[in-house]
Amino acid sequence: MSRLPLIVALAGLLAACDQNMDVQPRYSEYSRAPLFRGSVLRRPPANTVARDDLEREKAASTKPALSAELLARGRARFGIFCSPCHGAGGDGNGVIVQRGMPRPTSYHDDRLLAADDQHFFDVITNGYGAMYSYAARVPPRDRWAITAYIRALQLSRHASLDDVPPDERARLESSP
Ligand code: HEC
Repeated sequence: MSRLPLIVALAGLLAACDQNMDVQPRYSEYSRAPLFRGSVLRRPPANTVARDDLEREKAASTKPALSAELLARGRARFGIFCSPCHGAGGDGNGVIVQRGMPRPTSYHDDRLLAADDQHFFDVITNGYGAMYSYAARVPPRDRWAITAYIRALQLSRHASLDDVPPDERARLESSP
């Protein structure tokens, strides 16, 4: 049985892919739109709220309750977005810093130990000095999760024996 008709049909389909969609008639955002007497990109009407803005705003102003799940999420996001500069322990010696990025203040510095959670959330949202904003990459709930994880990192070096729950403490003290 000849496969020729099938091959011809497939070749026809491939040829269809060659239609270059770039050259179809369309406007560029900033080109002039005679109909509107301005550019094609229109200014939204006053008081327009972009889709998802309200949800994002709500997540930004509601700090989620601390949980093991939140910390695990924060740890994972911190590893992806922050540790390349801040280092896995938050000392500010990540691989990018080792290759020339200005060294950020250590999270274990007294000023950052005393800073409130909102400061960390705001730095992620707006950037800080040489650090750019992560608002586009890290959604609000993840910013809170990362903040919680940074708090855990800080606590890991500044905890006293009194911070250990009694049953765990007994176990610690009985270990050699
Ligand atoms: C590309 C490198 C880089 C990455 C990635 C990065 N930072 Fe930074 N960060 C910096 C630098 C550099 C500074 C110091 C900026 C300055 O003082 O000009 C800084 C400063 C900070 C500070 C200290 C602000 C203060 O009050 O001194 C915090 C908190 C912080 N970053 C949190 C984060 C978090 C959280 C992430 C991940 C979401 C992150 N950074 C990702 C480079 C980075």
